[in-house]
Amino acid sequence: MRIAVGSDHRGVAMRAKIVDLLKSRGLEVIDEGCNGQESVDYPDIAAAVARKVSKGEVDRGILICGTGLGMSIVANKFPGVRAAPCHDYVTAEMSRRHNNLNVLCLSGDILGERLVDRLVEIWLDTEFEGGRHERRVGKITALERNMPNA
Ligand code: RB5
Repeated sequence: MRIAVGSDHRGVAMRAKIVDLLKSRGLEVIDEGCNGQESVDYPDIAAAVARKVSKGEVDRGILICGTGLGMSIVANKFPGVRAAPCHDYVTAEMSRRHNNLNVLCLSGDILGERLVDRLVEIWLDTEFEGGRHERRVGKITALERNMPNA
């Protein structure tokens, strides 16, 4: 699996740990920054990761900002991207089983280290259930295709 990761200044330390975790699992990681602790604008990082997912250059993405909210708002502007903040094991699991989430958004401010490691593992290991959820996700794709600017 190829996975792109990115964070703004609120998620630098968490991103470094997640990159280590992903590499330890043998995944190919494309790191889109940011570098250092200087303040950056989360839309720039979210766009870099989401564009790669949207174009099929990577299989999935992980984005971290203070809350995970700004990153998900931006990432969902890209066709084919399904992004959401997950703060607990249930949302991490169900985001895969029911929503086929391909961009995981995390909060650098709220989540603890152990929680985030397990949350990422659950998100990586959980398969999309398909079936009725395939139909529902298909409707999201159809809506996207009908958007005037899509
Ligand atoms: C940056 O201060 C903060 O707004 C950003 O990290 C994120 O939480 C936005 O949603």
